[in-house]
Amino acid sequence: MPAPRTVLLTGAAGGLGTLMRGLLPDYGYELRLLDLRPVEGEPDAIVADLADRKAVREAVRGVDAIIHLAGISLEASFEKILAANIEGTYHLYEAAREEGVGRVVFASSNHAVGYTPHPRGDDPLIPVDTPRRPDTFYGLSKCFGEDLAQLYWDKHGLETVSVRIGSCFPEPTSVRMLSVWMSPADGARLFHAALTAEGVGHTVVHGSSDNTRLWWDLTSARALGYAPQDDSEPFAAKLVAEQGELDPADPAQARIGGHFVTDPPIWPY
Ligand SMILES: NC(=O)c1ccc[n+]([C@@H]2O[C@H](COP(=O)([O-])OP(=O)(O)OC[C@H]3O[C@@H](n4cnc5c(N)ncnc54)[C@H](O)[C@@H]3O)[C@@H](O)[C@H]2O)c1
Repeated sequence: MPAPRTVLLTGAAGGLGTLMRGLLPDYGYELRLLDLRPVEGEPDAIVADLADRKAVREAVRGVDAIIHLAGISLEASFEKILAANIEGTYHLYEAAREEGVGRVVFASSNHAVGYTPHPRGDDPLIPVDTPRRPDTFYGLSKCFGEDLAQLYWDKHGLETVSVRIGSCFPEPTSVRMLSVWMSPADGARLFHAALTAEGVGHTVVHGSSDNTRLWWDLTSARALGYAPQDDSEPFAAKLVAEQGELDPADPAQARIGGHFVTDPPIWPY
């Protein structure tokens, strides 16, 4: 596969999309942007709903690869998740298949396995083939996306790297995030590796920095050539002083998905 150059970035107006718009051009990519909402400072961005199959097909035409971030990123009603994350992702994959796009990088989530207890003490890191345990309809939609990616690889030869993103924000803001945080710079490194590694078929990877308190195994991500440079530990003392260490007796603190297992935040619009 020749190295991709033109990349469709869906969800470009969102938090992660905004971070990646800033970082990925340094790797030589030309980004085509798509979102439901206008993208600030980007008049050429495509404003379209993933429900609009014609617009999605036009958006993918001619790109080398797709980074698929668009969708509802918190819990919502099943109907809203169905439209944006399940049907929307299906529309994107169909368009990619029809237009002959070779590779998708899919923003999956830790919430696909959110009910998995996180390791403590000397427990082994969570492997990437741990059974799915979605913690919300949102997490369930990420399981669907990973399975859709597998189907399109097996049936149509369309490659995907599904990145189970932990938390990609400029800084970790909770003790839980210390274990799953992915710095924006490491996020860009991982997306670049996912776009350029040879022969990925459908590969699932965990998306985190090289955190001292890491919960999950990064082996499959490293196998793509990902070499994380950051660690959340410098943020730990302040966060632990403010919030205390995680309490394993609290159901909202004992599992990978954190409070998504008990009181998930609801998507605001
Ligand atoms: N940020 C993280 O730490 C994190 C962690 C795990 C997974 N993810 C996943 O990464 C992706 C990006 O996350 P984010 O934090 O930037 O979320 P976000 O909510 O900030 O951005 C999502 C974007 O998708 C757009 N969108 C929603 N529905 C759409 C539709 N039907 N058609 C077109 N665009 C639509 C929204 O307008 C928004 O700009 C999401 O898929 C999310 O589930 C993010």
